[in-house]
Amino acid sequence: MSKRKKIAFIGAGNVGATCAHLCFLRNLGDIVLYDIIDGLPQGKALDMLESGPVLGIDLDVIGSTEIKAIEGADCCVVTSGSPRKPGMSRDDLLKINAGVMNQVGRAIREVAPNAFVIVVTNPLDAMVTQVKRVTGFDKKRVAGQAGVLDSARYRTFLAQELGVSVDSVNAMVLGGHGDDMVPVRSYTTCGGVPIERLIDKGRLDQIEKRTRNGGGEIVELMKTSSYYAAGTAVFRMVEAYMLDKKEVLPCAAYLEGEYGVNGFYAGVPVVIGAGGVEKIIPIELTAPEKQAFESSVAHVRELVDAMDKVLAA
Ligand code: 2OP
Repeated sequence: MSKRKKIAFIGAGNVGATCAHLCFLRNLGDIVLYDIIDGLPQGKALDMLESGPVLGIDLDVIGSTEIKAIEGADCCVVTSGSPRKPGMSRDDLLKINAGVMNQVGRAIREVAPNAFVIVVTNPLDAMVTQVKRVTGFDKKRVAGQAGVLDSARYRTFLAQELGVSVDSVNAMVLGGHGDDMVPVRSYTTCGGVPIERLIDKGRLDQIEKRTRNGGGEIVELMKTSSYYAAGTAVFRMVEAYMLDKKEVLPCAAYLEGEYGVNGFYAGVPVVIGAGGVEKIIPIELTAPEKQAFESSVAHVRELVDAMDKVLAA
């Protein structure tokens, strides 16, 4: 048995495998790919393992259709479930994927009881809420990925608009990971300069609209969900946890009164380190941002209620 840390990917599709490959390249820990499609996790794992000698990477990479392969994982990335198809909203996935989260949550609780869990499956805010409930884990140990991806899309479009490096643009997208996510203009800057001083309101509105539809734009083009950007965004969270970076990232976090939300998940700025979601950072929103955030979380609440009805039926 290796003494290295272990990162388990529950779902070895495009997002899971993209993230796993980045974790492998950065030597973050041994990799386990789990999936229900026989041959897929085994094949991807072997392929990744065979890339090791090229770069001098000695990590183990295992693929399996047996959930017990994730046993003892330090970090679990959950991407399993049905992906979005063209014309399908994230919410359409609710019914199918809530059942998958129940199974996955129970398995994690049983065989990887000390893991930090990152949920990526859509509709994200409802799915991560369900995984938290089923595992019974502390809120610090279950987070959802959405804000890193949504903020990366916003930054991409802003950097293109201004003709500057993406490194010069800081941005934050909060709220639910739905079509009413909230690009927070007042915390978005280029070279430290507030974005509203650099781009006029009409153009910013267009860029934010594209950001909100960023997932849908990719689905329309590829007929399946984003995976380079989505997988890289999850990687950033895994890395922050595995390396105890204490990085401030926008993530779906379980809120108990913060931001006026109680008992479910929504995207807010948090600190991710070895303790998982170590802190939720309060920020002051402008009145229109606050209103947009409230309407976004109201939608998340509806989604969670709808999920509860589906699960109770
Ligand atoms: C997206 O926004 C997959 O929900 C993900 O592309």
